[in-house]
Amino acid sequence: MTDDNAPKPRFAPRVFSGIQPSGGLTLGNYLGALKRFVEKQDEGIETIYCLVDMHAITVWQDPAKLRHATREAAAAFIAAGIDPERSVLFNQSQVGAHAELGWVFNCIARLGWMNRMTQFKDKAGKNAEAASLGLYAYPALMAADILLYHATEVPVGDDQKQHVELTRDIAAKFNHDYGVEFFPLPAPVIEGAATRVMSLRDGTKKMSKSDPSDASRINLTDDADAIAQKIRRAKTDPDPLPDAVEGLEGRPEARNLVNIYAALAGSTPAAVLDEFAGQGFGAFKPRLADLAVDRLAPISREMARLMADPAEIDRILARGADRAEAIARPILERTFEIIGMVRSRG
Ligand code: TYM
Repeated sequence: MTDDNAPKPRFAPRVFSGIQPSGGLTLGNYLGALKRFVEKQDEGIETIYCLVDMHAITVWQDPAKLRHATREAAAAFIAAGIDPERSVLFNQSQVGAHAELGWVFNCIARLGWMNRMTQFKDKAGKNAEAASLGLYAYPALMAADILLYHATEVPVGDDQKQHVELTRDIAAKFNHDYGVEFFPLPAPVIEGAATRVMSLRDGTKKMSKSDPSDASRINLTDDADAIAQKIRRAKTDPDPLPDAVEGLEGRPEARNLVNIYAALAGSTPAAVLDEFAGQGFGAFKPRLADLAVDRLAPISREMARLMADPAEIDRILARGADRAEAIARPILERTFEIIGMVRSRG
């Protein structure tokens, strides 16, 4: 027997994804990420989900608000259907290996690669000189989050695609530079009708927790009245809904509401238009509001219930961090060996 017949190292399917606990979560986070995290968990694949508090501090966070938002995001995950027994659920800062591998990847990623990251340009704005070094280096930490678990699939919204592609570049360069097949090249999984949920006030802008207008987004903490009111007041145009998706061209607000309806209903934009073609927003919006309240209000109610016992949330996060650490540590140790660090503490 020669080694040529030895099976090639393969990576078992494993899902990793994360959400920043900087402010509350929005309908965009829910449809683009959280709802799909639950679907992945329910498919039976190993799923690891992280509240990335170390990413959150790339812009200044009020400490008390950050702590609250981290617990609230954990409550949102559980309320949306993440089972902390079937999935690993934890906050990033409790597993130090993220920062350690993040440093290694700072030494792998090239400045030229980082300079192409559109999200840094958007977030740093005109005054990039005043942005933190962490904001600039953040995609290397995100690569560490994913590769620390040898994850193969990364469900994200459309805006994170470039960062997952950078993660693949970092994995490939590491493997090449050290002559190993150690890190997998993880795939971004960007699926469903709402991979980019837009602002309710401006269909050309992404729905975001940092938008100054609360009317631009639905928060996962909004109650039924707030959800319905925001949908009723969402910006639209005067035309009726078309009978095919092509008819949404040049109508960003209409397209956004149709996509949201489809994602909430687990359907497709084409099927939604089959049902509502020819109807105006006066008829469509109340139906969308009913659907949104039906799907989202139970989540906000359950979040409120869970938040009444923060000690229990902390216990869940501690247990999740222990489980995450058990996967991450050996991979980090092997990384250090590969790159030539003396590890003599046993
Ligand atoms: P973050 O916290 O900005 O967003 C979390 C997830 O929600 C998705 N998302 C949206 N999807 C559709 N429409 C929207 N309007 C919308 N807004 C947000 C995002 O695409 C994302 O999937 N860098 C990441 C967090 C992160 C991460 C990771 C993700 C850190 N490490 C490792 C995956 C794997 C971020 O800032 O996402």
